[in-house]
Amino acid sequence: MTFRARHLLGVEQLSPPEITTLLDLAESYVALNRRTVKHGDALEGLTQINLFFENSTRTQSSFELAGKRLGADVMNMAVAQSSVKKGETLIDTALTLNAMQPDLLVVRHPHSGAVNLLAEKVNCAVINAGDGRHEHPTQALLDALTIRRAKGRLHRLTVAICGDIAHSRVARSNLILLGKMENRVRLVGPATLMPSGVGELGCEVYEDMAAGLKDADVVMMLRLQKERMDGGFIPSEREYFHRWGLDAAKLALARPDAIVMHPGPMNRGVEIDGTIADDINRSVIQDQVEMGVAVRMAAMDLLARNLRAERGAKAAGEGTYV
Ligand code: NCD
Repeated sequence: MTFRARHLLGVEQLSPPEITTLLDLAESYVALNRRTVKHGDALEGLTQINLFFENSTRTQSSFELAGKRLGADVMNMAVAQSSVKKGETLIDTALTLNAMQPDLLVVRHPHSGAVNLLAEKVNCAVINAGDGRHEHPTQALLDALTIRRAKGRLHRLTVAICGDIAHSRVARSNLILLGKMENRVRLVGPATLMPSGVGELGCEVYEDMAAGLKDADVVMMLRLQKERMDGGFIPSEREYFHRWGLDAAKLALARPDAIVMHPGPMNRGVEIDGTIADDINRSVIQDQVEMGVAVRMAAMDLLARNLRAERGAKAAGEGTYV
């Protein structure tokens, strides 16, 4: 089996065979999740803590379901009611939780790099559920699985990632993963919402939606991340929709079989027209949510195997039993 990582901090650290291993395993969990009885035992006896310092609907519930379906004891830390509000530092919170012997720690944090820092302080497997503008590896992996299922392959596709690229960890992780799998990635959006140094990312950059969407196989729309903006990045939401919002006329420029994606939560009428989002012939937004649970099951399963192997080897060396 090709998957050596101890933590899942970003797609940056994953090799193409590791990505394929994870997606193939996730396929088996898609099948399990469609059954009436959805129980596996890959995480039996393990403790999973979800530690979310930022709001989340789908990612947190998806990790919770994924853990429960595989038999883990899952705890959701309610950060809003925790000592974090009393000023406890991230590291103190991590050390406190670490002392409770979790096996998997799923962390979302508003600061880029915070999850990597935390992973150095604990002795369980850490999964990054989104850190600032940095990475959101399970989102890129679930997007990859969704694309592979819809298009029948995950290479030589033209993928247009559109909108608020600068503030988006989803865009960053997708750009890295899709690049590794040899796809052509285009970034499309206003210059004010492009990250600095975008020219060095090795992808095509377009300000004009018509040019950026032309002949695309996949159109991935991003949420306008108003909470990460501290100034006037866009003229107005109305104007933004007019120029960069996905509607039927703009989608017609992509390939006739192009799929439409969005990680959610959506601002309908801002970055995407509601009728496009709901068009079951084009939109795979609900498939993304479904693939999310399967991909998280696969990620935690693989990390748990490595964790058990590591602990088993250590215990054998010490002559103790785990
Ligand atoms: C994304 C996130 O939080 O990074 N959402 C998600 O995980 N489904 C994207 C977003 O918030 O716009």
